Amino acid sequence: MSQPLASGAENGPAHVALVGGRVAVIRRATPADLSGVRGLHLACGADTLRDRYLGSPPDLTDADLAGLIDPPGGLALVACAGRPDGDVLGLAQVFGGPPVAEIAVLVRDDHQQRGLGTMLARRAVDAAAALGCRDMVAYGVAGSSRLARLLGRLELRSQLRAEGPMITLRAPIARIPDQRNLRIVH
Ligand SMILES: CC(C)(COP(=O)(O)OP(=O)(O)OC[C@H]1O[C@@H](n2cnc3c(N)ncnc32)[C@H](O)[C@@H]1OP(=O)(O)O)[C@@H](O)C(=O)NCCC(=O)NCCS
Repeated sequence: MSQPLASGAENGPAHVALVGGRVAVIRRATPADLSGVRGLHLACGADTLRDRYLGSPPDLTDADLAGLIDPPGGLALVACAGRPDGDVLGLAQVFGGPPVAEIAVLVRDDHQQRGLGTMLARRAVDAAAALGCRDMVAYGVAGSSRLARLLGRLELRSQLRAEGPMITLRAPIARIPDQRNLRIVH
């Protein structure tokens, strides 16, 4: 069962501008997104799915899709074309829960390179921090620097470990209290 986000900022849908001028809406995934998330996977090529699932993609049964939409201990975000109920262009997941959240992102092939993956990853990291996670971890295929570049754009100080066919990136994400809200007590 998904947990509610701890703070307000990440809860509402966010309209984001993509490179090229289109708009996407990033929001929390719900069970009603099952067919949209199936469509997202069907629109992705084999390489994209291999990079996301580090092997065979899920079978796309309703149970598989429900698991992607409601990951254990965390939550999923979808990016939709133009409107909150538009086609699903991307999916980000936060798994596991405190103290270490696993983050995973998938963007449809025909909408990559437009800034969407970075925005989804940023909001997933924010959501993980709001759930109380201190660190995030992400897994990628060995030899690909795409994931490291993605996390680099979020200015996360990630450490990379290579293990056989896989790389692991881990970074601290704990929220730093907003200095403007701190009161100095003498
Ligand atoms: C990794 C992945 C999520 C990135 O998604 P994306 O939407 O293409 O990501 P972005 O558009 O934010 O960034 C991709 C590139 O576009 C560039 N870009 C983004 N916005 C840009 C802009 N405004 N101007 C110029 N370039 C821009 C980025 O710099 C980045 O360049 P790089 O390839 O040199 O790093 C996507 O490729 C994917 O789904 N891959 C398969 C699954 C996967 O590997 N997931 C990660 C592990 S879980």
